[in-house]
Amino acid sequence: MPFHTRITEMLGIEHPIVQGGMQSVGVAELASAVSNAGGLGILTALTQPTPAERKGVDIISIDGFECAGHPGEDDIPGLILIPAAADKVKIPMLASGGFGDGRGLVAALSLGAEGINMGTRFCATVEAPIHPNVKQKYIENDERGSHLIFRNFHNTARVGKSDVSDEVVRRLKNPDATFEDVRELVSGVAGKELLETGDLSKGVFWAGMVQGLIHDIPTCAQLIDRIIAEAEAILDDRLAAMRRPAQQPARVA
Ligand SMILES: Cc1cc2nc3c(=O)[nH]c(=O)nc-3n(C[C@H](O)[C@H](O)[C@H](O)COP(=O)(O)O)c2cc1C
Repeated sequence: MPFHTRITEMLGIEHPIVQGGMQSVGVAELASAVSNAGGLGILTALTQPTPAERKGVDIISIDGFECAGHPGEDDIPGLILIPAAADKVKIPMLASGGFGDGRGLVAALSLGAEGINMGTRFCATVEAPIHPNVKQKYIENDERGSHLIFRNFHNTARVGKSDVSDEVVRRLKNPDATFEDVRELVSGVAGKELLETGDLSKGVFWAGMVQGLIHDIPTCAQLIDRIIAEAEAILDDRLAAMRRPAQQPARVA
């Protein structure tokens, strides 16, 4: 049975699963694969020749500390951030950061969100326009496989663990470090080249803690179908079984 939330109703989508905006990655091939699989694929403005104008907000996506990209400076994980935001926000909310399977979807809905937004998990799909070497790195890295960089500059970013991001962390440990000390390692051009060539020595790549839950490279349709099936099984089997009336103790005649 499908999940109906305010977000599936508003967007007219089958499943409450959204592909996050991702520079260099959120192109037509990935976005259409996600949308054709019943989710919402997002064409990322910065992948377009002229970025698309914001005219108001109907839905908000909240990123927890676990996320790839910019988790902010407060380090609040989704388990706290999502319900805290749900208490304050009236418009429908997507939970983002650390989501990759049906367990996460059920948790997000329980925490007050109306769907999930995923970035890293969609990078490890057949349709993602990313070199297979990088997709393999998402599988190899576990939940410890990311680094926070740019803390010194109050512009914290979470990237995948690699020799290059190890080196960025090492250089930024110096309290006097400036952006110039790491510029050539973290440039957007270098990151784009890394995604295209699969040469991990070229730069850094965005990746979240959810790498610890990534073990394969499915198509977007396989991934979304699996997430929905897992979520349904959790509700219909696992949780339903916990809600059975307690068994009566055997009567002794
Ligand atoms: C490869 C990649 C590129 C991203 N690029 C952007 C971006 O250009 N702008 C942005 O706001 N967020 C960007 N993000 C963040 C995602 O939109 C999303 O918020 C985040 O990935 C969610 O966390 P998760 O990776 O744990 O699913 C990017 C994430 C990844 C993995």
